[in-house]
Amino acid sequence: MSKIFSGIQPSGTLTLGNYLGAMKNFVDMQDGNECFFCIVDQHAITVPQDRLALRENSRSLAALYLAAGIDPDKSTVFIQSEVPAHAQLAWILQCTSYIGELERMTQFKDKSLKQKEGGVSAGLLTYPPLMAADILLYNTDIVPVGEDQKQHLELTRNLAERFNNRYYEVFKVPEVQIPKVGARIMSLTDPTKKMSKSDDNKKAFISMLDDEKQIMKKVKSAVTDSEGIVRYDKENKPGVSNLLTIYSICANRSIEELVEAYKDKGYGEFKTDTAEAIINVLKPIQERYHQLMESEKLDDILDEGAERANRAASKTLQKAMNAVGLVRKRR
Ligand code: TYM
Repeated sequence: MSKIFSGIQPSGTLTLGNYLGAMKNFVDMQDGNECFFCIVDQHAITVPQDRLALRENSRSLAALYLAAGIDPDKSTVFIQSEVPAHAQLAWILQCTSYIGELERMTQFKDKSLKQKEGGVSAGLLTYPPLMAADILLYNTDIVPVGEDQKQHLELTRNLAERFNNRYYEVFKVPEVQIPKVGARIMSLTDPTKKMSKSDDNKKAFISMLDDEKQIMKKVKSAVTDSEGIVRYDKENKPGVSNLLTIYSICANRSIEELVEAYKDKGYGEFKTDTAEAIINVLKPIQERYHQLMESEKLDDILDEGAERANRAASKTLQKAMNAVGLVRKRR
C-alpha cells in the first residue's frame, strides 16, 4: 500500500486537461492505496481571487472530485486552509529554500510576468515550499500530476533531502507519477500552448462543466492543419496529435487504432467523433456533480476529510518542528 497525495487549485472550473492529466488518474489509484486529495485554496490566492468566487470554486471542486469517482470512504478529500499544518510547515520549508531556486521555477517566471503591473506577490515566489509542505506532511510515496508540475516535484524532493540532511530524517522523499498519455493536453486554439483554465480565450479549453453543444463547437473549431490526414506527429501536426491524445484517453482506444480507423476519413468526422468521446466521459460526471452541489453530503464529507487530514498532518508537523527546535520542552 502506497501513500498518495495530490492537489488541484480551485481557481476556476477545471479543464479537460486537469481531468485527463490528473483527476482521472487519482480515481484509478484509489484501490489498495491510502489517498489524500486536496483542494489547494491557499495556492489559489497567490494571484488575486474574488472571495465569493473562490468559496464557490472550492465547493465546486470538491463536488467534481467526488463526481469524477473519488470515493470518500476510500480517500480523504479536504480543503487545504482547513488544515493549518500546511501553512505552518510551509514556513519551515521556506526557510529551507533558497531564493535563487524559487526564482528559477518556470511557473514563477511565467506567472510573475503576468502580474508585473500590480506588483508580483511574494506568495507566487514561495508557492513551491507550500506545495512541498502539502506533500511531505502525509509521508507521501507517490504524487500523480501532469507534466507542468514536474519541476515543483523535483524541488519538493530536494527540500526533503536538504531538511533530512540538515537535521535528521523526518520526511519521506516522494516519487512523481506523470501519465504516459495525457500529461500535457494542449490548447485547442494554439496547440503549442498548454490547455489552461486561465486562458482568456474560452475556445482554447474545454471546461469539465461545458455542455454538449459547447464541447462540439469547441472541438469543431479546434486548430488543426491543411494536410487533411489524421496521423500523430506532435512536432508538425500538434493540433491533430492533441485531439488524437484526447480521443484516445476518452474512448480508451490506442492512438494507433484511431489513426488506422480514420485513415480514409477527413477531419470533420474525426472531430465530431472526438467531441462525442469527450461528451461520453463528461456527461455522467456532470450529472453526479449537479446532484452533489445540491446535497448536504458535500459538507459532511469535507468536515470528515479535514479531520482525518489534520490528524495525519499534525504528526509530521510535530516531528519537523522538533527537528528544527521549535519546541519548548525536550522530547
Ligand atoms: P493545477 O491546479 O494547475 O492543476 C491540477 C493538475 O492538473 C494538471 N494539469 C494538466 N495536465 C495535463 N494537461 C494540462 N493541460 C494540464 N493542466 C493542468 C496539473 O499538472 C496538476 O496535476 N501546484 C499544483 C497544485 C498543487 C499540488 C500540490 C499538486 C498544490 N499542492 C501537491 C500535487 C501535490 C497546481 O497548480 O495544479
